Amino acid sequence: MNSTRESWASKLGFMLAAMGSAVGLGNIWRFSYVAGENGGGAFLILYLASIVIIGIPLLLAEVSIGRKAKSDVVGSYRTLAPRKPWYLAGFLGVFGALLILGFYSVVAGWSMYYFWNYLTGQFFTVPEQGYGAAFEMFTSSTAQPLLWHAIFMVLTIAIVLTGIKKGIELANKIFMPALAVLLIILAGFSLSLDGAMEGMRFLFQPDWSVLSDPSVYIAALGQAFFSLSLGVGVMMTYGSYLGDHHKLPGATVGIGLMDTFFAVISGVVIFPAVFAFGIEPDSGPVLVFITLPDIFSQIPFGGIVGILFFLSLTLAAVSSSVSLLEVPVAFLMRSFKWSRKLAAIITGIVIFVLGIGASLGMGAWSGFTPIGQLNIMDSMDYVASNIFLPIGGLVMAMFIGWYFNKMDALTAADLQHATVGHWWYVIVKYFAPVIILLIFLNALGVL
Ligand code: TRP
Repeated sequence: MNSTRESWASKLGFMLAAMGSAVGLGNIWRFSYVAGENGGGAFLILYLASIVIIGIPLLLAEVSIGRKAKSDVVGSYRTLAPRKPWYLAGFLGVFGALLILGFYSVVAGWSMYYFWNYLTGQFFTVPEQGYGAAFEMFTSSTAQPLLWHAIFMVLTIAIVLTGIKKGIELANKIFMPALAVLLIILAGFSLSLDGAMEGMRFLFQPDWSVLSDPSVYIAALGQAFFSLSLGVGVMMTYGSYLGDHHKLPGATVGIGLMDTFFAVISGVVIFPAVFAFGIEPDSGPVLVFITLPDIFSQIPFGGIVGILFFLSLTLAAVSSSVSLLEVPVAFLMRSFKWSRKLAAIITGIVIFVLGIGASLGMGAWSGFTPIGQLNIMDSMDYVASNIFLPIGGLVMAMFIGWYFNKMDALTAADLQHATVGHWWYVIVKYFAPVIILLIFLNALGVL
């Protein structure tokens, strides 16, 4: 039955795709605004701790489940635990992926719009009202952001349509290195700005007093999950296309390190500029779309840099959105015997519709705030990242820790003989579930 299933051309292909999934808007757009809203340095420490102690071990757990089961997120649980309720978590994953891609694609559309405006030269010089107001005008309008959201979804669908090897592997090979190089150059420039040190202090010098706020912990955990693409079965699905002879531990550590590098370097680009240009670090989701153009307008050949940067950012977003779309697509292909084409198109349309809410929530529907003060997009993000992802990750950890026996768990993860294996098992079985639960209850105000 599995003989016709697709697979990666090589282990490198898998790693590039998984890195492509992990590295995206989450590292640049989401990381910088969440760090900015949560006090900077202390948040960074919690975030790094979440990545190392929980994120990377769970990444290994998630990939292991998928590779062992060779199925999508629902199918993996069903295969490994027939007639047990674990597969319900798979549905949570499918739903979570739809929800995330719904707003992710809208933000990616903004990035494409910026790319376009640099390409045509429009953004080479500061617009009359400033980049902030120009951005506000664009995002609060109705038709234009929806158009870019649609274009981005078409692009994502087109790549998923062409299948695993050709579509997804190739797109990652070129633009990730390009993005890395650009970010390093930009970081150098940012550090040369007047006031850069204030930004560096904000990012690297913890103000421990923010730790008294329970929401900081869930924000750090949610960001770690979001950035590593954990908890909805993206990594499980990608792992399912990987042959058994490829070793997992090194690959997952590599993915985690790469992802963290992109987040930290983005912080070094953004925060010095935030302080140099007098922008509030807690400006929220609009942060990079205002700071970056300000940076570009001040550097030599900034327009060209703008073109390259927003092209790379858009493509980094595509390789992430492709991975999100793959979760429901793989599920539908197996469950209903749909073709890849049909599954990708139908799911893509559903996601487009979800994104309409997120987009209009910036303008016409901004009065509608489903959760507290949060508009539609921020509410979708909040529910997905701070609730769905941690729960999804919790269930994966418990599945490995409590449903598998220790030997099977270590074998699935290629960790049979090492002390590392023991510690990984302890983390996945006890530590991660307890910490996730504590952070969760803490955020809910129960503790
Ligand atoms: N990790 C990606 C980013 O940082 C976004 C992403 C892709 C994602 N797949 C995911 C987030 C799965 C959560 C779950 O941009």
